[in-house]
Amino acid sequence: MERSDIRTVPDPAAAALPRFESVMREAVAARGRFVVVLAGGSTPQPLYRALAERPDLPWRETWVVWGDERHVAPDDERRNERAAREALLEHVPVPEDQILAWPWREGSSATWAAEGYAAALRRELGDPPRFDLSLLGLGDDAHTASLFPGTGAVGAAGTTVALPPTDDREARVSLTAGALSRSLDVLFLVAGEAKRDALEGTLAGTGDHDRFPARAVSAQRTLRVLTDLALDDNGAE
Ligand code: 6PG
Repeated sequence: MERSDIRTVPDPAAAALPRFESVMREAVAARGRFVVVLAGGSTPQPLYRALAERPDLPWRETWVVWGDERHVAPDDERRNERAAREALLEHVPVPEDQILAWPWREGSSATWAAEGYAAALRRELGDPPRFDLSLLGLGDDAHTASLFPGTGAVGAAGTTVALPPTDDREARVSLTAGALSRSLDVLFLVAGEAKRDALEGTLAGTGDHDRFPARAVSAQRTLRVLTDLALDDNGAE
């Protein structure tokens, strides 16, 4: 992530919609399908709700993946899958067998879920799995997906990684930085003053990716950061 990747806009979620549509239509036209990695959290929710109002988009040719998940039951309100289904997937005709949710079963471990999801992605999307667009957020602590600082998760090899529960969060599962970087395009949505230090730290470019995990994410074609934060000398749209 470089300063040149940043676009300061009044409403990152709204600005993301035309980019989402453009990559989606190009992927379907060029390859017959669009594989999108959805992010959890609150920032992308307005984008999901706006997309739900677009039945004209090629949803039947869309495959949905999640960049990370809380290792909790599908009906748990903490689940990223549940939020995206309510805001978007219940309103557009993505075939259910093209919605690739992280696995869950009572008593299972996050490691079991991570291994199962990697196998499912390889089966459905190829080995290694590739994505047309990955949506990502940035936590106040500079985590992205569930690659949390200080956990070493950013250095995980392969496609998925499991993180054990801590005092303040449930067990998590995440695509690795390497898997996310196999995306053709990556689009970060970063909104709110609380994200300034995390964004500035990520841009500062210290080699320590474990402190700023988003620095380990790149893209095969375009990485963009849409933010409402005015930073020094970054491009404004
Ligand atoms: C999650 C997300 C996480 C999110 C950031 C930012 O599971 O919560 O995947 O990585 O993108 O925490 O969240 P907000 O958009 O709510 O600030």
